[in-house]
Amino acid sequence: MQSIPTTFIHIDLGQRSYPIALGSGVIAMLGTSLSLPVGTAAVIVSNATVAPLYVSRLIASISATYSQIQTVVLPDGEAHKNWATLNLIFDALLRQGCDRKTVLYALGGGVIGDMTGFAAACYMRGVPFVQVPTTLLAQVDSSVGGKTAINHPLGKNMIGAFYQPQLVVCDLDTLDTLPARELAAGLAEVIKYGPIADMELFAWLEAHMDALVARERGALAHVVKRSCEIKAAVVGADEREAGLRAILNFGHTFGHAIEAGMGYGVWLHGEGVAAGMVMAAHLSQRLGLVDGSFVERLTRLIERAGLPTRGPVLDAQDNAGRYLELMRVDKKAEGGEIRFVLIDGPGKAVMRAAPDALVREVIDQCCAS
Ligand code: NAD
Ligand code: GLY
Repeated sequence: MQSIPTTFIHIDLGQRSYPIALGSGVIAMLGTSLSLPVGTAAVIVSNATVAPLYVSRLIASISATYSQIQTVVLPDGEAHKNWATLNLIFDALLRQGCDRKTVLYALGGGVIGDMTGFAAACYMRGVPFVQVPTTLLAQVDSSVGGKTAINHPLGKNMIGAFYQPQLVVCDLDTLDTLPARELAAGLAEVIKYGPIADMELFAWLEAHMDALVARERGALAHVVKRSCEIKAAVVGADEREAGLRAILNFGHTFGHAIEAGMGYGVWLHGEGVAAGMVMAAHLSQRLGLVDGSFVERLTRLIERAGLPTRGPVLDAQDNAGRYLELMRVDKKAEGGEIRFVLIDGPGKAVMRAAPDALVREVIDQCCAS
């Protein structure tokens, strides 16, 4: 297996700036090669799948830095990204007498990262935390930028906070154990960066999708690095989503409706985003922003990543109506009006409302019957 030397990407946010360390074996080098947040103790938050794989490696690496290290193991899955599971973190922190100099380590995918980040934002009004993402999706997107949240039964990621980590550690070795379906889900967020910001990356993905699916280490390193660079630029310009940052939600308005409508965890986040990007591309075409050949190109690439290109039926009686109902519970909605991230020519995103009738047509066209 090719070894990738550690590289760093800087997230430039003034006093809240931090590095992303990316390469092979970075977890094992943490304690000796990186500057870790100072603290009285460290608490590693992970889940029942990831902890047995990587927690001992992380403990060994950081043990010289902290006098105490505890581990909190949560149940695995999107269905557990809720108040009850978040409370398990607070229960453990309080039972262990953790003070405000405790450093939380999020070891896992986006679910663990989002929940640990939210716990860090809330516990004693804020303790430092480090993201150690172990899925492709978390390495290319969720661990970077400080969005933290839990789901509500009525809407995805509706309860949360902006709270930046102090360090992000992307160890490419962890991707070796990722199930193929989860790797594909991560590729959805990588593909996303093309239409919204970087068509050179998009063309690169068209040329190297087979290598990515085969987990060639050099190809994975390239997409993690390029994705983090694009995300760093967007977050650096608009940390709290006053405008620009919303482009990172391309495909997410439809995707979040799919996740909530199917029940969290039935469709993976990346799968919802994949089908959602196809729907958003069709909507862009109907509004005259892109032509059909671009929609075809995007659909083909998503398919090659092993991802769905059609949405599920959420309601046999009124499918489009159900999508619209769910999409109105979206953080981008204003006064009940849904605002979509659309493609305004390949490589450029724009936020727009669209007539319900047009959205209904797209949903009817793009959902499996
Ligand atoms: P996930 O966290 O559920 O992880 C996917 C699965 O892979 C889980 O079963 C997990 O236990 C397992 N896993 C993780 N690492 C593994 C490894 N190295 N080897 C084997 N198995 C491993 O899902 P995800 O796709 O990482 O993240 C999705 C979540 O991220 C969603 O809740 C989504 O809303 C959120 N998200 C947040 C942001 C943000 O900006 N904060 C951005 C995108 C997505
Ligand atoms: N993944 C969307 C964002 O970070 O803004």
